[in-house]
Amino acid sequence: MPERITVKPIAGFCGAEIDGVDLSQPLDDETFEAVQQAFLDHLVIFFRDQNLTPDQQIAFGRRFGELRISDQYQPLDAHPEILEIGKEPDATDIVGNLWHCDESFLERPALGSILYIIECPEFGGDTMFANQYAAYNALSPGMQDMLSSMRAVYSDGTLQQRNKGRSMKVHPDAANRPSYDAVHPVVRIHAQTGRKSLFVHRPYTVRFDGMTADESRPLLEFLYAHASRPEFTCRFRWEKGSVAFWDNRCAQHYALNDYSGVRRYGHRITVIGDVPH
Ligand SMILES: [Fe+2]
Repeated sequence: MPERITVKPIAGFCGAEIDGVDLSQPLDDETFEAVQQAFLDHLVIFFRDQNLTPDQQIAFGRRFGELRISDQYQPLDAHPEILEIGKEPDATDIVGNLWHCDESFLERPALGSILYIIECPEFGGDTMFANQYAAYNALSPGMQDMLSSMRAVYSDGTLQQRNKGRSMKVHPDAANRPSYDAVHPVVRIHAQTGRKSLFVHRPYTVRFDGMTADESRPLLEFLYAHASRPEFTCRFRWEKGSVAFWDNRCAQHYALNDYSGVRRYGHRITVIGDVPH
């Protein structure tokens, strides 16, 4: 790793701040390797004091894979890869204030999401992350065995009910298409680390494959609570110019809606992942 780069974990199970990397510049191979390794080791990595144009953020994201153009929310004009993540001072609700991973309702869920915060409150509006390798590892062998043979159905079918109180409105085209639905394993094996993680998310996991929603609910509720146990988590305090890059394959996140009367605004891009196995 180049000497100027430091990686400092912020919690026991996930999250590390990286210093010494300017994301506005093309990354040389050695820097890219160091960033990628920190991402795989810590599941979510943070950078401070960045200054990124949309094109620079897109160029950074493309080092990790193809970017998705979302039809869930309205993208930034002229840069359809960028989602505007925002809460205006008069809004009461936000997107993402429950434990989830991004886009698990797609055949190829997001590999990672990269959020660059341009404006934020002085305090409040943190984001939490939870390590889903740790969640899987902490289950009993009997539960691990049972879940390893199970699949679940994921859907974005409730998307249309989510505009109330929010500045970020659902993309109008999303109202005119059928919901996205996918079936994925409940325990997924990370394509790059080979490690197993728990992969169920309250807003998108509808039921276990082959079971009804009613039959699935008790076990899903247990897993949701287990997946977000405090010791698996870290919590990031944003500043203007902070960037977070999280791995949706093995981490969940939660955006805290604990502020009002202040604007929070940023740009998010989403790297397309593989089909979960
Ligand atoms: Fe999210």
